[in-house]
Amino acid sequence: MAMSQHRTFWSLGLGISFTRNLITWFLLIFSLLYILYSSNLLLTNRSLNCCTTHLSSSPQFLPDSNSKSNSNSFTTTITTRRFDTELKHIVFGIAASSKLWERRKQYIKQWWRPTKTRGVVWLDKPVRGRGNEGLPEIRISGNTSKFPYTNRQGSRSALRISRVVSEMARLGMEDVRWFVMGDDDTVFVVDNVVRVLSKYDHREFYYVGSPSESHVQNIFFSYTMAYGGGGFAISYPLAKALEKMQDQCIHRYPGLYGSDDRMQACMAELGVPLTREVGFHQYDVHGNLLGLLAAHPVTPLVSLHHLDIVDPIFPGMSRSRAIQHLLESSILDSASIMQQSICYDRNREWSISVSWGYVVQILRGVISPRELETPTRTFLNWYKRADYTGYSFNTRPVSKHPCQKPYIFYMGTTQYDHVKKQTLGIYSRHRARQPNCGWKMESPGAIDSIIVVKRPDHLRWQKSPRKDCCRVFPSSKRSTMYISVGNCQDGDIREL
Ligand SMILES: *[C@@H]1O[C@H](CO)[C@@H](O)[C@H](O)[C@H]1NC(C)=O
Repeated sequence: MAMSQHRTFWSLGLGISFTRNLITWFLLIFSLLYILYSSNLLLTNRSLNCCTTHLSSSPQFLPDSNSKSNSNSFTTTITTRRFDTELKHIVFGIAASSKLWERRKQYIKQWWRPTKTRGVVWLDKPVRGRGNEGLPEIRISGNTSKFPYTNRQGSRSALRISRVVSEMARLGMEDVRWFVMGDDDTVFVVDNVVRVLSKYDHREFYYVGSPSESHVQNIFFSYTMAYGGGGFAISYPLAKALEKMQDQCIHRYPGLYGSDDRMQACMAELGVPLTREVGFHQYDVHGNLLGLLAAHPVTPLVSLHHLDIVDPIFPGMSRSRAIQHLLESSILDSASIMQQSICYDRNREWSISVSWGYVVQILRGVISPRELETPTRTFLNWYKRADYTGYSFNTRPVSKHPCQKPYIFYMGTTQYDHVKKQTLGIYSRHRARQPNCGWKMESPGAIDSIIVVKRPDHLRWQKSPRKDCCRVFPSSKRSTMYISVGNCQDGDIREL
């Protein structure tokens, strides 16, 4: 409906000015032609200069990471550089429904830390009290029947969910710096919530989150909206300002679809833009998250969402067990969970991509870092008919060449070695059928497990963002590979 109004507006405007001023139109067309002509020149120039990279020389590996460690113990409290924000300053608001509660509470149990995390689950109706131990306090949202809601596709529950932050701001909790919203199928890595929020001054107005992976969704809703499932954060003073105006604000947008677009509408009225933090993941996709997770951007992993819709992130496990498995090891080095490092086995001519705490992939041949850090499309678009142009970031296809199918090793166990002060993870090969490859080179299929050692690095996000470096160690056993992951040293680059 909004679109057709738009079109009328423009055609009216064009019609009037056309009859009024023909010369202006000639000038306009002339300058357009000129712009086209000069940009064409630019493009030609660029393509002449672009492709002089040479793919020679050998990979340079880092020296042992022992010398440059930031922290000795993985039990450090997460505190911060400038604002000393801690977990106790953050209040989570979880939007839940009584109908799905029994299933969805399994996800909350995975990340919630009783006595440490603060927050409230907001439900539409009371639920049975049993089995809710170790979960946040439950409250029933205020009655929203007086608010108008006219969207045909959506549901009225959007109204009550959109009011969660305001309702929490009215509870008068002490020492709150941030309210963080999430759905009942959102999983937070709480240490990383702290890390990300502590970059910002909680005494000012901040609206922090991330748009969708789906370009189509972002066109439909907005690129400047924090998607509710990925979770978002509102600083305390902003929540107080919101609380004063939100009920009137909601009245002005009866046609919107959800709770998060209503929130964004009120943020826009307050003049507060979205601060984008791409570690919040709405995950508006279907299928296998592997391609996305294994090439995570260089930023802390804050949240995962739509876990009921995508495949379990570890194959062969239930969805909530797979999350538990990931979070168990992430405790040892939460700052580095999912962080990708790229290295090469020079002798065997393999490319190796490590996503710490999750997966190691070995590929035959030398593939450049710029390719390896681009997510492969192991997943499908939210709108199933949309093709690869429907994402809001770059992706690459899954290679169909039989020699280029990656060998995938999923994290099995991770432990902390108190003597060497490093984590040791054992990653085992995923037994998927591997097609026959005719290349005359060693097959990664001989390797059953990969041992990844890494020192925890709790302060890595207080420095400029950078990937870790990895290095392959010689191994006496053909079936085991040893990899160390750590800070890059001076002069470390991942040359091909
Ligand atoms: C909400 O309020 C309306 C009237 O304002 C009332 O009819 C309705 O029963 C209330 N709903 C609940 C769940 O209390």
